[in-house]
Amino acid sequence: MDAHDPRPPDDFGLSVKDLAVGYGPVAALRGISLRVPRGSIVTVLGGNGAGKSTLLRAISGTLGFHRGGVTAGEIRFDGARLSGTAASAVVAAGVVQVPEGRRVFARMTVEENLRAGALGARDRRAAAEARERVLTLFPVLAERARQRAGLLSGGEQQMLAIGRALMARPRMLLLDEPTLGLAPMMAARIADTVREINEQGTTVLLVEQNAAAALSLASSAYVLEVGEVVLSGPAAELARSDEVRRRYLGVEDGEPAGPAPGNDRRAVPASPRPNLARWSA
Ligand SMILES: Nc1ncnc2c1ncn2[C@@H]1O[C@H](COP(=O)(O)OP(=O)(O)OP(=O)(O)O)[C@@H](O)[C@H]1O
Ligand SMILES: [Mg+2]
Repeated sequence: MDAHDPRPPDDFGLSVKDLAVGYGPVAALRGISLRVPRGSIVTVLGGNGAGKSTLLRAISGTLGFHRGGVTAGEIRFDGARLSGTAASAVVAAGVVQVPEGRRVFARMTVEENLRAGALGARDRRAAAEARERVLTLFPVLAERARQRAGLLSGGEQQMLAIGRALMARPRMLLLDEPTLGLAPMMAARIADTVREINEQGTTVLLVEQNAAAALSLASSAYVLEVGEVVLSGPAAELARSDEVRRRYLGVEDGEPAGPAPGNDRRAVPASPRPNLARWSA
């Protein structure tokens, strides 16, 4: 950080500016700009192949593992530059990704998976605190501590994947479709836990195809289509927009939107329904 260039207060959190990403000659993201203020939950919505996972990989410095790379733009976290740094440096900066498809180490026990998440933690007391936090959030992981992770249900594996990420004591969590393929009850539990983790002070960037649940959790949202941001705004406004309702919430025109699946506390408001301006970066 440059001592001569004091950071403005709104520099805390994550900022992505004019990001472009390619996999070899294939452009996957173009002109992506977004902000995740410290302490917030922000969601990125989009269908298959829109570029959601690519965005998270760019932030976590893991594009190289997928033969991809950042071709333009900048990513900063709490004022420090993340783009161009190694994945391990991004984790050290406090940003931890839970990858798509809850990749737990199937042959290892639950306990061993959690310990793997704390690798690199020098402070043993901090690691013990992180473990305590995870087991309080997910008591089932304590019950299954000695079981092989591959034997857990899909929802439990997602809990373990999130728990393993929390062992690194992140200031910011990147979640890639955490509710994908889960039964509605389990998806709702995961959503509740994401809210709880955020209330404990962790900033969250949540990538989802499940727009209803994500919009009920997030304060603001971005919609990705074919590698570009086509809509963005406060989550409540996007939930009311005709386009988002039709394309991402499965609601026909004039039909009142139901509550988010498995989350009946916060119904998606039916009106008024402003049309959001479409913009391209
Ligand atoms: N390793 C790769 N090599 C080449 N192209 C890739 C690679 N990974 C993704 N892509 C391409 O980049 C684009 C964005 O893919 P990405 O996986 O980021 O989308 P996504 O929004 O996460 O989709 P999904 O909802 O299916 O997970 C797609 O066109 C995809 O085919
Ligand atoms: Mg994806």
